[in-house]
Amino acid sequence: MPVKVVVGTQWGDEGKGKYIDILAKDSDYIVRFSGGNNAGHTIVLKDKKYALHLLPSGIFHEGKICLIGNGTVIDPKVLINEIKNINSEGYKTDNLFISDRAHVIMPYHILMDELQEKFRGDNCIGTTKRGIGPAYVDKADRYGIRICDLIEEDVFVEKVKLNLQFKNEILTKVFNVSPLSLDEIISEYLSYAKYLKGFVRDTSEIVFKALKNNKNVLFEGAQAMFLDMDFGTYPYVTSSNPIGGNVCIGGGIGPIYVDQVFGVLKAYTSRVGEGPFPTEQNNSTGDMIRDLGSEYGTTTGRPRRCGWLDLVMIKFASRVNGLTALAINHIDTLGKLGKIKLCIAYELDGKRIEEFPASLKKLSKCKPIYEDFDGWETDKTKVKTYEDLDENAKKYLRRIEEIVGIKVKLVGIGKDREDTISVY
Ligand code: GDP
Ligand code: IMO
Ligand code: MG
Repeated sequence: MPVKVVVGTQWGDEGKGKYIDILAKDSDYIVRFSGGNNAGHTIVLKDKKYALHLLPSGIFHEGKICLIGNGTVIDPKVLINEIKNINSEGYKTDNLFISDRAHVIMPYHILMDELQEKFRGDNCIGTTKRGIGPAYVDKADRYGIRICDLIEEDVFVEKVKLNLQFKNEILTKVFNVSPLSLDEIISEYLSYAKYLKGFVRDTSEIVFKALKNNKNVLFEGAQAMFLDMDFGTYPYVTSSNPIGGNVCIGGGIGPIYVDQVFGVLKAYTSRVGEGPFPTEQNNSTGDMIRDLGSEYGTTTGRPRRCGWLDLVMIKFASRVNGLTALAINHIDTLGKLGKIKLCIAYELDGKRIEEFPASLKKLSKCKPIYEDFDGWETDKTKVKTYEDLDENAKKYLRRIEEIVGIKVKLVGIGKDREDTISVY
């Protein structure tokens, strides 16, 4: 079956957007299936940088159908701005459709996200403050407002009224802040509804028909394995399931269709927000990785925490996502460090372990066991194929394949679409 899935294997920002843009060339449909505008996917086309938050990263290829699936949460204001921006750059959105079952991020979600983070104080998650968590909570709590509700004025007004009654009680009595205005929200959101109405479809049906017609469908993961609600470093995670299995729920297809799952990783590790990070280098090495790799958040601009590549994590991600190939980025960045470490296992209470613990208490006691590698240079004018890579870089890649048990298919040696080597 012609379904490919691209997922992040670390804590996000592995360079998924770049690979989706590349793989979109040979796909007919590109589908976002989870998360919202907490995602920031960078695509660099001939030195021009684009950051997408909700639009699928296939949008730069004319004629491809781009879908935002039911598993996502949509801030209509952000989506409309993104559509307008991309149109002003000369890219069309005629083939963009959004699911009638996706949930809408409302102003009270964004406000609650901020207030809850403040309330948590030292235990804050470090969210993107885009209202993602509260929107998914409302979905599970059956207070959510879906895109199909947004575009039916009477339904929308009734739902917002009920919601706001409840939210304003919490805002004023628990958080001691001013209530939100019903009229303002309704007039703002009805103008968004008017703009978005023409984009709304049953995207699951579109995908089903595409599959029946043997079209190539590419699912675009946002966030990543270790931000997954079930498998990530809970509670320092996002409020959805970014793993491969969620294409079935978030995209609305049966589990029989998926045949390729690409796991994207960086040649090192980065993380934005709070939570444990066993191979973190909170020192001059981490600073160097951040500087060399320009590691600042695409969505919030926050400096990313940086450290060595952790294969205990990648192996776990491979198992849970059912990875069939690895796509690795920033081989250029890592090579510049000269002396490199690769984590192949942990030591916990004097014993070697190879599985990623669920308990954060145990995880905090894990000491990475490293292997050492020498650096390399990647001159982009000379490195065009896998064979052209420096022997030290190949040695590093081979060791990753050996430990994870999966082949590296794509290697990134720069930001641009062109800076990618196909290994086989
Ligand atoms: P995503 O969220 O997984 O799509 O990743 P982001 O776009 O948030 O972060 C990846 C960052 O790494 C972006 O700034 C990319 O332009 C950059 N990038 C991706 N691949 C490479 C690579 O192979 N080398 C270098 N130097 N930068 C890369
Ligand atoms: P992409 O798709 C990196 C992180 C936040 C925070 C945690 C919870 O670009 O890889 P949330 O706002 O989702 O409630 O925040 O998740 N986070 C990301 N980190 N890349 C992302 O997306 C992220 N999306 C959420 O920093 O730690
Ligand atoms: Mg990102």
